[in-house]
Amino acid sequence: MTSFTIAVLAGDGIGPEVMHQARRVLDVVGKKHNFTLNCQEHAVGGYAIDTQGEALPAATLSACENADAILFGSIGGPKWDNLPLEERPERAALLTLRSHFDLFSNLRPAKIYPSLVHLSPLRADIAQNNVDILVIRELTSGIYFGQPKGRQGEGEQTNAFDTMRYSKAEIRRIAISAFEAATKRKNKVTSVDKANVLATSRLWREVVEEVAADYPSVSLEHIYIDNATMQLVANPGQFDVMLCSNLFGDIISDECAMITGSMGLLPSASLNQDGFGMFEPAGGSAPDIAGKGIANPVAQILSGAMMLRYSLGLETAADDIERAVLKTLSDGILTAELLSPQNKHSAKSTSEVGDYIISQL
Ligand code: NAD
Ligand code: IPM
Ligand code: MN
Repeated sequence: MTSFTIAVLAGDGIGPEVMHQARRVLDVVGKKHNFTLNCQEHAVGGYAIDTQGEALPAATLSACENADAILFGSIGGPKWDNLPLEERPERAALLTLRSHFDLFSNLRPAKIYPSLVHLSPLRADIAQNNVDILVIRELTSGIYFGQPKGRQGEGEQTNAFDTMRYSKAEIRRIAISAFEAATKRKNKVTSVDKANVLATSRLWREVVEEVAADYPSVSLEHIYIDNATMQLVANPGQFDVMLCSNLFGDIISDECAMITGSMGLLPSASLNQDGFGMFEPAGGSAPDIAGKGIANPVAQILSGAMMLRYSLGLETAADDIERAVLKTLSDGILTAELLSPQNKHSAKSTSEVGDYIISQL
Protein backbone atom coordinates (compact mmCIF):
# COMPACT_ATOMS: atom_id res chain seq x y z
CA MET A 1 0.00 0.00 0.00
CA THR A 2 1.30 3.49 -0.82
CA SER A 3 2.16 5.47 2.27
CA PHE A 4 2.93 9.15 2.79
CA THR A 5 4.13 11.23 5.72
CA ILE A 6 2.06 14.33 6.39
CA ALA A 7 3.08 17.11 8.78
CA VAL A 8 -0.17 18.25 10.37
CA LEU A 9 -0.06 21.77 11.81
CA ALA A 10 -3.51 22.46 13.24
CA GLY A 11 -2.68 25.75 14.98
CA ASP A 12 -5.10 28.01 16.82
CA GLY A 13 -8.77 28.91 17.13
CA ILE A 14 -10.92 26.75 14.87
CA GLY A 15 -7.76 25.16 13.37
CA PRO A 16 -7.79 22.03 15.57
CA GLU A 17 -11.59 21.69 15.30
CA VAL A 18 -11.67 21.60 11.52
CA MET A 19 -8.41 19.67 11.25
CA HIS A 20 -9.93 16.86 13.30
CA GLN A 21 -12.65 16.44 10.66
CA ALA A 22 -10.16 16.61 7.79
CA ARG A 23 -8.08 13.84 9.36
CA ARG A 24 -11.16 11.63 9.81
CA VAL A 25 -12.11 12.13 6.17
CA LEU A 26 -8.57 11.45 4.94
CA ASP A 27 -8.44 8.25 7.00
CA VAL A 28 -11.63 6.93 5.47
CA VAL A 29 -10.60 7.91 1.95
CA GLY A 30 -7.22 6.25 2.45
CA LYS A 31 -8.86 2.95 3.42
CA LYS A 32 -11.20 3.16 0.45
CA HIS A 33 -8.51 4.08 -2.08
CA ASN A 34 -5.74 1.97 -0.63
CA PHE A 35 -3.20 4.47 0.70
CA THR A 36 -1.99 5.40 4.17
CA LEU A 37 -1.25 8.87 5.45
CA ASN A 38 1.13 8.82 8.35
CA CYS A 39 -0.11 12.06 9.96
CA GLN A 40 2.07 13.60 12.66
CA GLU A 41 0.76 16.62 14.57
CA HIS A 42 3.21 19.42 15.35
CA ALA A 43 2.91 22.62 17.37
CA VAL A 44 2.61 25.88 15.47
CA GLY A 45 1.35 29.44 15.94
CA GLY A 46 0.02 30.86 19.17
CA TYR A 47 -0.23 27.39 20.66
CA ALA A 48 3.49 26.86 20.01
CA ILE A 49 4.31 30.27 21.52
CA ASP A 50 2.41 29.32 24.67
CA THR A 51 3.88 25.83 24.99
CA GLN A 52 7.38 26.20 23.49
CA GLY A 53 8.10 29.91 23.40
CA GLU A 54 8.08 30.38 19.63
CA ALA A 55 5.56 30.19 16.80
CA LEU A 56 7.59 27.83 14.62
CA PRO A 57 9.68 25.50 16.80
CA ALA A 58 12.71 23.89 15.09
CA ALA A 59 11.17 20.43 15.54
CA THR A 60 8.07 21.52 13.63
CA LEU A 61 10.09 22.96 10.78
CA SER A 62 12.25 19.87 10.48
CA ALA A 63 9.18 17.62 10.53
CA CYS A 64 7.82 19.67 7.62
CA GLU A 65 11.12 19.26 5.78
CA ASN A 66 10.86 15.50 6.17
CA ALA A 67 7.21 15.22 5.15
CA ASP A 68 5.63 14.60 1.76
CA ALA A 69 3.24 17.49 2.34
CA ILE A 70 2.09 19.93 5.03
CA LEU A 71 -1.54 20.12 6.06
CA PHE A 72 -2.03 23.43 7.82
CA GLY A 73 -5.00 24.66 9.88
CA SER A 74 -4.94 28.30 10.87
CA ILE A 75 -3.05 30.42 13.34
CA GLY A 76 -3.23 33.64 15.28
CA GLY A 77 -5.80 35.31 17.49
CA PRO A 78 -6.34 38.18 19.92
CA LYS A 79 -4.10 36.61 22.56
CA TRP A 80 -1.01 37.11 20.37
CA ASP A 81 -2.04 40.29 18.53
CA ASN A 82 0.14 42.61 20.61
CA LEU A 83 3.42 40.80 20.06
CA PRO A 84 5.98 42.52 17.81
CA LEU A 85 5.23 41.77 14.15
CA GLU A 86 8.21 39.42 13.74
CA GLU A 87 7.06 37.26 16.66
CA ARG A 88 3.40 37.07 15.77
CA PRO A 89 2.18 33.65 14.60
CA GLU A 90 1.26 35.01 11.16
CA ARG A 91 4.77 36.16 10.32
CA ALA A 92 6.92 33.90 12.50
CA ALA A 93 5.18 30.72 11.44
CA LEU A 94 2.98 31.04 8.38
CA LEU A 95 5.00 33.51 6.29
CA THR A 96 8.22 31.80 7.35
CA LEU A 97 6.93 28.42 6.17
CA ARG A 98 5.83 29.88 2.83
CA SER A 99 9.18 31.51 2.33
CA HIS A 100 11.29 28.61 3.63
CA PHE A 101 9.75 26.16 1.17
CA ASP A 102 9.47 28.75 -1.62
CA LEU A 103 5.72 28.15 -1.89
CA PHE A 104 5.25 30.94 -4.41
CA SER A 105 2.18 29.60 -6.18
CA ASN A 106 -1.02 29.78 -4.17
CA LEU A 107 -4.14 28.28 -5.73
CA ARG A 108 -7.51 29.29 -4.31
CA PRO A 109 -10.45 27.81 -6.23
CA ALA A 110 -13.93 29.27 -5.77
CA LYS A 111 -16.91 27.74 -7.50
CA ILE A 112 -20.66 28.22 -7.20
CA TYR A 113 -22.20 24.84 -8.06
CA PRO A 114 -25.71 24.95 -9.57
CA SER A 115 -27.07 23.08 -6.54
CA LEU A 116 -25.45 25.62 -4.18
CA VAL A 117 -26.49 28.91 -5.78
CA HIS A 118 -28.74 29.61 -2.78
CA LEU A 119 -25.69 29.73 -0.47
CA SER A 120 -24.31 32.79 -2.25
CA PRO A 121 -25.14 36.21 -0.86
CA LEU A 122 -25.30 37.40 -4.48
CA ARG A 123 -28.58 37.72 -6.37
CA ALA A 124 -29.51 34.35 -7.94
CA ASP A 125 -29.24 35.57 -11.54
CA ILE A 126 -25.65 36.62 -10.83
CA ALA A 127 -24.65 33.60 -8.75
CA GLN A 128 -25.98 31.06 -11.26
CA ASN A 129 -23.89 32.44 -14.12
CA ASN A 130 -21.20 29.69 -14.15
CA VAL A 131 -19.02 31.09 -11.40
CA ASP A 132 -15.81 29.05 -11.40
CA ILE A 133 -12.75 31.08 -10.48
CA LEU A 134 -9.21 30.01 -9.71
CA VAL A 135 -7.33 32.72 -7.87
CA ILE A 136 -3.60 32.30 -8.41
CA ARG A 137 -1.83 34.39 -5.82
CA GLU A 138 1.89 35.10 -5.68
CA LEU A 139 2.79 34.08 -2.14
CA THR A 140 6.45 34.69 -1.33
CA SER A 141 7.20 38.24 -2.41
CA GLY A 142 5.55 41.63 -2.89
CA ILE A 143 4.69 43.91 -0.01
CA TYR A 144 4.57 41.02 2.47
CA PHE A 145 8.30 40.40 2.17
CA GLY A 146 9.87 43.52 0.58
CA GLN A 147 12.60 45.27 2.55
CA PRO A 148 12.90 47.74 4.17
CA LYS A 149 9.91 47.36 6.41
CA GLY A 150 9.51 48.99 9.79
CA ARG A 151 8.92 52.20 11.68
CA GLN A 152 11.00 55.10 12.88
CA GLY A 153 10.72 58.39 14.70
CA GLU A 154 8.92 59.36 17.88
CA GLY A 155 5.52 60.79 18.79
CA GLU A 156 3.83 62.69 15.96
CA GLN A 157 7.00 62.26 13.89
CA THR A 158 6.55 58.49 13.84
CA ASN A 159 6.33 56.96 10.41
CA ALA A 160 6.07 53.37 9.22
CA PHE A 161 6.87 51.80 5.89
CA ASP A 162 6.56 48.62 3.85
CA THR A 163 8.22 47.98 0.53
CA MET A 164 6.36 46.52 -2.42
CA ARG A 165 8.96 44.93 -4.66
CA TYR A 166 8.77 42.36 -7.45
CA SER A 167 11.51 41.03 -9.69
CA LYS A 168 10.86 39.95 -13.27
CA ALA A 169 11.67 36.35 -12.35
CA GLU A 170 9.14 36.35 -9.50
CA ILE A 171 6.40 37.71 -11.74
CA ARG A 172 7.28 35.37 -14.59
CA ARG A 173 7.01 32.17 -12.58
CA ILE A 174 3.62 33.00 -11.08
CA ALA A 175 2.34 34.16 -14.47
CA ILE A 176 3.41 30.81 -15.92
CA SER A 177 1.44 29.05 -13.14
CA ALA A 178 -1.62 31.06 -14.15
CA PHE A 179 -1.34 30.45 -17.89
CA GLU A 180 -0.65 26.75 -17.39
CA ALA A 181 -3.73 26.48 -15.18
CA ALA A 182 -5.84 28.38 -17.71
CA THR A 183 -4.97 25.92 -20.48
CA LYS A 184 -6.66 23.21 -18.37
CA ARG A 185 -9.72 25.41 -17.72
CA LYS A 186 -11.46 28.07 -19.80
CA ASN A 187 -8.33 29.57 -21.37
CA LYS A 188 -8.71 32.98 -19.81
CA VAL A 189 -6.37 34.86 -17.47
CA THR A 190 -7.36 38.11 -15.80
CA SER A 191 -4.33 39.77 -14.28
CA VAL A 192 -5.16 42.02 -11.34
CA ASP A 193 -2.98 45.07 -10.68
CA LYS A 194 -2.87 48.78 -9.97
CA ALA A 195 -0.77 49.74 -12.98
CA ASN A 196 -2.26 53.23 -13.02
CA VAL A 197 -0.36 53.98 -9.79
CA LEU A 198 2.21 51.35 -8.82
CA ALA A 199 5.62 50.74 -10.39
CA THR A 200 5.48 47.07 -9.39
CA SER A 201 2.20 46.77 -11.28
CA ARG A 202 3.74 48.33 -14.42
CA LEU A 203 6.46 45.68 -14.38
CA TRP A 204 3.84 43.04 -13.55
CA ARG A 205 1.88 43.93 -16.72
CA GLU A 206 4.99 43.91 -18.88
CA VAL A 207 6.09 40.46 -17.75
CA VAL A 208 2.58 39.00 -17.87
CA GLU A 209 2.33 40.20 -21.50
CA GLU A 210 5.65 38.48 -22.27
CA VAL A 211 4.45 35.20 -20.76
CA ALA A 212 1.10 35.50 -22.57
CA ALA A 213 2.93 35.45 -25.90
CA ASP A 214 3.87 31.82 -25.19
CA TYR A 215 0.19 30.88 -24.68
CA PRO A 216 -1.64 31.96 -27.85
CA SER A 217 -4.71 29.88 -26.93
CA VAL A 218 -5.21 31.79 -23.67
CA SER A 219 -6.84 35.21 -23.68
CA LEU A 220 -5.42 37.80 -21.31
CA GLU A 221 -7.13 40.77 -19.70
CA HIS A 222 -5.73 43.26 -17.24
CA ILE A 223 -7.93 44.73 -14.55
CA TYR A 224 -7.31 47.23 -11.77
CA ILE A 225 -7.77 45.84 -8.28
CA ASP A 226 -10.52 48.28 -7.36
CA ASN A 227 -12.53 47.41 -10.46
CA ALA A 228 -11.84 43.69 -9.84
CA THR A 229 -13.46 43.77 -6.39
CA MET A 230 -16.51 45.45 -7.90
CA GLN A 231 -16.72 43.14 -10.95
CA LEU A 232 -16.57 40.11 -8.65
CA VAL A 233 -19.85 41.15 -7.11
CA ALA A 234 -21.45 42.41 -10.33
CA ASN A 235 -20.53 39.53 -12.65
CA PRO A 236 -18.19 36.88 -11.21
CA GLY A 237 -19.02 34.52 -14.09
CA GLN A 238 -16.77 36.55 -16.40
CA PHE A 239 -13.60 35.30 -14.63
CA ASP A 240 -11.61 32.10 -15.08
CA VAL A 241 -8.07 32.40 -13.68
CA MET A 242 -7.39 35.56 -11.67
CA LEU A 243 -3.66 36.21 -11.44
CA CYS A 244 -2.78 38.33 -8.41
CA SER A 245 0.18 39.66 -6.49
CA ASN A 246 0.47 38.68 -2.84
CA LEU A 247 -1.63 41.43 -1.25
CA PHE A 248 -4.23 41.73 -3.99
CA GLY A 249 -4.68 37.94 -4.01
CA ASP A 250 -5.20 37.96 -0.26
CA ILE A 251 -8.07 40.42 -0.65
CA ILE A 252 -9.57 38.93 -3.81
CA SER A 253 -9.60 35.41 -2.36
CA ASP A 254 -11.62 36.41 0.72
CA GLU A 255 -14.14 38.02 -1.61
CA CYS A 256 -14.22 34.90 -3.79
CA ALA A 257 -14.80 32.74 -0.72
CA MET A 258 -17.72 34.88 0.37
CA ILE A 259 -19.46 34.97 -2.99
CA THR A 260 -19.62 31.16 -2.83
CA GLY A 261 -21.27 31.46 0.59
CA SER A 262 -18.64 31.49 3.32
CA MET A 263 -15.01 31.89 4.26
CA GLY A 264 -15.31 28.32 5.51
CA LEU A 265 -15.65 26.89 2.00
CA LEU A 266 -12.41 27.99 0.33
CA PRO A 267 -9.39 25.64 0.37
CA SER A 268 -5.92 26.46 -0.87
CA ALA A 269 -2.72 24.89 -2.11
CA SER A 270 0.63 26.64 -1.81
CA LEU A 271 3.15 25.00 -4.10
CA ASN A 272 6.80 25.33 -4.96
CA GLN A 273 8.50 24.57 -8.27
CA ASP A 274 8.95 20.88 -7.30
CA GLY A 275 5.28 20.33 -6.46
CA PHE A 276 5.92 20.24 -2.70
CA GLY A 277 3.09 21.98 -0.95
CA MET A 278 1.30 23.27 2.09
CA PHE A 279 -2.48 22.99 2.10
CA GLU A 280 -4.68 25.24 4.19
CA PRO A 281 -8.06 26.96 4.28
CA ALA A 282 -7.96 30.51 2.93
CA GLY A 283 -9.69 31.71 6.10
CA GLY A 284 -8.20 32.22 9.51
CA SER A 285 -8.58 31.02 13.09
CA ALA A 286 -12.03 32.66 13.40
CA PRO A 287 -11.72 33.65 17.08
CA ASP A 288 -15.36 34.79 17.06
CA ILE A 289 -16.62 31.21 16.71
CA ALA A 290 -13.68 29.14 18.03
CA GLY A 291 -14.38 26.56 20.72
CA LYS A 292 -18.10 26.34 19.94
CA GLY A 293 -18.03 23.36 17.59
CA ILE A 294 -19.77 25.35 14.86
CA ALA A 295 -16.93 26.10 12.43
CA ASN A 296 -17.34 24.93 8.86
CA PRO A 297 -14.84 22.08 8.26
CA VAL A 298 -15.29 22.11 4.46
CA ALA A 299 -12.35 24.39 3.57
CA GLN A 300 -10.01 22.22 5.64
CA ILE A 301 -11.37 19.00 4.19
CA LEU A 302 -11.09 20.35 0.63
CA SER A 303 -7.54 21.48 1.41
CA GLY A 304 -6.87 17.82 2.23
CA ALA A 305 -8.29 16.91 -1.18
CA MET A 306 -6.01 19.44 -2.85
CA MET A 307 -3.08 17.85 -1.02
CA LEU A 308 -3.99 14.46 -2.45
CA ARG A 309 -4.31 15.93 -5.95
CA TYR A 310 -1.35 18.29 -6.13
CA SER A 311 1.34 16.75 -3.94
CA LEU A 312 0.52 13.05 -3.65
CA GLY A 313 -0.84 12.24 -7.12
CA LEU A 314 -4.06 10.75 -5.68
CA GLU A 315 -6.46 12.35 -8.12
CA THR A 316 -9.31 9.85 -7.81
CA ALA A 317 -9.33 10.05 -4.03
CA ALA A 318 -9.35 13.85 -4.25
CA ASP A 319 -12.32 13.71 -6.63
CA ASP A 320 -14.08 11.41 -4.22
CA ILE A 321 -13.74 13.87 -1.32
CA GLU A 322 -14.94 16.75 -3.48
CA ARG A 323 -17.95 14.76 -4.61
CA ALA A 324 -18.85 13.84 -1.01
CA VAL A 325 -18.55 17.48 0.09
CA LEU A 326 -20.73 18.70 -2.76
CA LYS A 327 -23.37 16.07 -1.95
CA THR A 328 -23.30 17.08 1.71
CA LEU A 329 -23.82 20.76 0.98
CA SER A 330 -26.46 20.02 -1.66
CA ASP A 331 -28.31 17.87 0.87
CA GLY A 332 -28.51 20.92 3.14
CA ILE A 333 -26.05 19.70 5.76
CA LEU A 334 -24.76 23.17 6.63
CA THR A 335 -22.97 24.95 9.44
CA ALA A 336 -24.60 28.05 10.89
CA GLU A 337 -22.75 30.72 8.93
CA LEU A 338 -24.25 29.38 5.68
CA LEU A 339 -27.82 29.78 6.91
CA SER A 340 -30.08 32.80 7.07
CA PRO A 341 -31.16 33.94 10.55
CA GLN A 342 -34.58 32.27 10.21
CA ASN A 343 -32.95 28.94 9.28
CA LYS A 344 -30.16 28.88 11.87
CA HIS A 345 -32.10 26.38 13.98
CA SER A 346 -31.32 23.69 11.40
CA ALA A 347 -27.56 24.32 11.54
CA LYS A 348 -25.27 21.32 11.87
CA SER A 349 -22.16 21.22 14.04
CA THR A 350 -18.60 20.85 12.76
CA SER A 351 -18.59 17.14 13.59
CA GLU A 352 -22.05 16.49 12.14
CA VAL A 353 -20.88 17.91 8.82
CA GLY A 354 -17.76 15.71 9.06
CA ASP A 355 -19.94 12.65 9.83
CA TYR A 356 -22.18 13.30 6.84
CA ILE A 357 -19.26 13.77 4.45
CA ILE A 358 -17.82 10.47 5.67
CA SER A 359 -21.18 8.77 5.18
CA GLN A 360 -21.05 9.81 1.52
CA LEU A 361 -17.64 8.22 0.89
P1 NAD B 1 -10.97 34.83 9.71
O1 NAD B 1 -10.88 34.25 8.36
O2 NAD B 1 -10.45 34.03 10.85
O3 NAD B 1 -12.50 35.15 10.03
C1 NAD B 1 -13.27 36.03 9.21
C2 NAD B 1 -14.76 35.67 9.34
O4 NAD B 1 -14.99 34.44 8.66
C3 NAD B 1 -15.20 35.47 10.78
O5 NAD B 1 -16.52 35.94 10.94
C4 NAD B 1 -15.17 33.95 10.94
O6 NAD B 1 -16.06 33.47 11.91
C5 NAD B 1 -15.54 33.49 9.54
N1 NAD B 1 -14.96 32.18 9.24
C6 NAD B 1 -13.69 31.92 8.89
N2 NAD B 1 -13.50 30.60 8.75
C7 NAD B 1 -14.70 30.02 9.02
C8 NAD B 1 -15.15 28.68 9.06
N3 NAD B 1 -14.33 27.65 8.78
N4 NAD B 1 -16.43 28.45 9.39
C9 NAD B 1 -17.27 29.46 9.66
N5 NAD B 1 -16.89 30.75 9.64
C10 NAD B 1 -15.63 31.02 9.34
O7 NAD B 1 -10.29 36.26 9.66
P2 NAD B 1 -9.91 37.30 10.83
O8 NAD B 1 -11.00 37.31 11.86
O9 NAD B 1 -9.56 38.52 10.16
O10 NAD B 1 -8.60 36.70 11.46
C11 NAD B 1 -8.57 35.95 12.68
C12 NAD B 1 -7.14 35.50 12.93
O11 NAD B 1 -6.76 34.52 11.95
C13 NAD B 1 -6.10 36.61 12.82
O12 NAD B 1 -5.14 36.41 13.80
C14 NAD B 1 -5.53 36.41 11.43
O13 NAD B 1 -4.23 36.93 11.30
C15 NAD B 1 -5.53 34.92 11.33
N6 NAD B 1 -5.55 34.37 10.00
C16 NAD B 1 -4.84 33.21 9.82
C17 NAD B 1 -4.85 32.58 8.61
C18 NAD B 1 -4.09 31.30 8.47
O14 NAD B 1 -3.59 30.78 9.43
N7 NAD B 1 -3.97 30.74 7.28
C19 NAD B 1 -5.61 33.09 7.56
C20 NAD B 1 -6.33 34.27 7.76
C21 NAD B 1 -6.30 34.90 9.00
C1 IPM C 1 -4.14 34.14 4.19
C2 IPM C 1 -3.97 34.90 5.48
C3 IPM C 1 -2.50 35.27 5.67
C4 IPM C 1 -2.09 36.14 4.50
C5 IPM C 1 -2.16 35.97 7.00
C6 IPM C 1 -2.64 35.21 8.19
C7 IPM C 1 -0.69 36.25 7.10
O1 IPM C 1 -4.78 36.04 5.51
O2 IPM C 1 -3.54 33.06 4.06
O3 IPM C 1 -4.91 34.60 3.34
O4 IPM C 1 -2.30 37.36 4.52
O5 IPM C 1 -1.53 35.58 3.55
MN1 MN D 1 -6.14 36.18 3.85
